[in-house]
Amino acid sequence: MQRHILIVGSGGREYSLGLALSGENISLYFYPGNGATNRLGTNLIAKDFDELYSLIQSYGIDLVVVGPEAPLSEGIVDFLQNRGIKVFGPSQKASRLESSKAYMKDFAIKYKIPTAKYLQSTDKQKLKDFANTLQTPIVIKADGLCAGKGVIIAKNLQEAHQSIEQMEKFGEAGSCVVVEEYLDGYELSVFALCDGKDFVLLPAAQDHKRLLDGDNGPNTGGMGAYTPTPLCDEALLKKIADQIITPALRGCESENHPFCGVLFAGIMVVEGEPILLEFNVRFGDPECEVLLPTLKTPLLQILDSCVEGRLKDLKYEVKDEFALGVVLASKDYPYSSSPKALIRLKEFDESLGHIAFAGVEEKEGELYASGGRVCVCVGRGESLRQARENAYKICECVEFEGMQYRKDIGFRAL
Ligand code: AMP
Ligand code: GLY
Repeated sequence: MQRHILIVGSGGREYSLGLALSGENISLYFYPGNGATNRLGTNLIAKDFDELYSLIQSYGIDLVVVGPEAPLSEGIVDFLQNRGIKVFGPSQKASRLESSKAYMKDFAIKYKIPTAKYLQSTDKQKLKDFANTLQTPIVIKADGLCAGKGVIIAKNLQEAHQSIEQMEKFGEAGSCVVVEEYLDGYELSVFALCDGKDFVLLPAAQDHKRLLDGDNGPNTGGMGAYTPTPLCDEALLKKIADQIITPALRGCESENHPFCGVLFAGIMVVEGEPILLEFNVRFGDPECEVLLPTLKTPLLQILDSCVEGRLKDLKYEVKDEFALGVVLASKDYPYSSSPKALIRLKEFDESLGHIAFAGVEEKEGELYASGGRVCVCVGRGESLRQARENAYKICECVEFEGMQYRKDIGFRAL
């Protein structure tokens, strides 16, 4: 049977989902997609969910996979499911685990998930009073989605008070604020693919959020990732499953919005114990780019099992190998948009890995970097070192004006 699958989103994550789903008897569609996803399938143009639904019907699309958080929090899953379409992704209510940090923190307490001590409030004075009780540094977070810009680590009390005042600049997203205790440890990204009741856990990954080598410079969407990480052994992964993922799924069931989709736990490991920093309700980007190539079970089988609530019966396996991805970003990322730049690609041995394209446009058969994160060079290997070497060999085959990337992805493990 020919399958018709739509991937919603336009980044490297969605390109990778496309790569992992490509195959015989599969037609792929992207909404809106990017300048390279149309090499894997068809990019769709629609002005709203209604128009998208019409296209879904006319192409006979039988599965929709949602990449980014914005359409999830806008309720795309509810909208399409109500019209009889199968969708891999959480409902709008379940998506609040990401779209409201205040909701997520209260949820963690209610379902006994370990998380940093906090206060969420709209009252600035109360927030400042609470900040006064914490040791520095102090973490200040806007409640709503701020494209990764809503978290401030204040070095001292004065900065903390200022940050509480300044959360207003995020508008509605910053009207409620979370002040929380700073956790000192190392971060892991852990992904559970969920069918509402059961889940399979992917190997742990590590992101690199800062722009510059050695974890310096401003925060970004992520400059590179690798998996599996030796910083998470079986015992720690089991703790994360038992203390964080399982109670979250039970919690979502109790709240009457069972979680189907990717539950992404951002974890801080402090003295060997996993503590939840945040939930996201989607794949991480660039984590997705390195995780999907390590699956042995075909991704489509997993997604179908999730959507149909039969994950329990799935035989799920991952390959015994490593993947490491290096993000190539445009000149002014993450500060401002960059001028378009022609991408020159040299051929490389495909056994090294591949390139996942993100911020690219196509013009007359050529790809142009169109700003932000342009692509991710994913190396694979039998060891992390090998995967890293391969990833950097691929980086050397890409060239565009102003290209910048970190040279130390994987440094915490190597
Ligand atoms: P979040 O969006 O909540 O994950 O925050 C973005 C980043 O801020 C995280 O990936 C951490 O690097 C950092 N962060 C958030 N909360 C804390 C915390 N309580 N302690 C230390 N770092 C934090
Ligand atoms: N790489 C982290 C994220 O996608 O939020």
